Amino acid sequence: MTKSTNIVYHHGDVTRADREKLLSQRGATLWFTGLSGSGKSTLAVALESALHEMGRLTYILDGDNIRHGINANLGFSPDDRKENIRRIAEISKLFRDAGVINLTAFISPYREDRQLARELADGDFIEIHVDAPLEACEARDPKGLYKKARAGEIPEFTGISAPYEAPEKPELHINTAENSVDECVALMIDYLKDNGFLG
Ligand code: ADX
Repeated sequence: MTKSTNIVYHHGDVTRADREKLLSQRGATLWFTGLSGSGKSTLAVALESALHEMGRLTYILDGDNIRHGINANLGFSPDDRKENIRRIAEISKLFRDAGVINLTAFISPYREDRQLARELADGDFIEIHVDAPLEACEARDPKGLYKKARAGEIPEFTGISAPYEAPEKPELHINTAENSVDECVALMIDYLKDNGFLG
């Protein structure tokens, strides 16, 4: 995997602990996973606003945005999705090291890829399964992509012609078909408080 040789890891003088002390918070990754249209970005945005109100430094990494930039060279084959998630997992690690609470909103359909992201996080990882039945996501169809996928215009579309492997033991399982956005945010804040992520 690593192609470069003769490279040595260089540590700075300011540590993650120093930065976390400055920020009065612990860096963590809130990993949202779920079907397109399940509400990942909506919940990440709403939770970020709530955390910001509480004085926390946050940052959202969102699939559609990241695929315009650093991951613009990736498509939706299993290998490209794997590389998409590997890069996000690494970027997420940098944000944790910066002491930032980062929220990632990617379908991340493969368990193995999410497991890699989890392993890199050494405990500071909260997997949030943003769950809604496929029919609900398809009825919402915020970007009109399900309609196109059903018409055969988008190959390998998650839930239609590509798999989604639901998490087996996520830290949080949130049903967006049954709960309002505010209710979902309250559930997530409660979890973060109960598990010491908010000090
Ligand atoms: S992931 O599977 O690699 O994690 P990611 O979250 O980055 O996907 O991107 C998903 C977004 O790309 C969807 O919300 C949708 O807007 C768009 N998209 C375009 N083509 C596809 C596809 N074939 N499958 C899923 N999403 C797609």
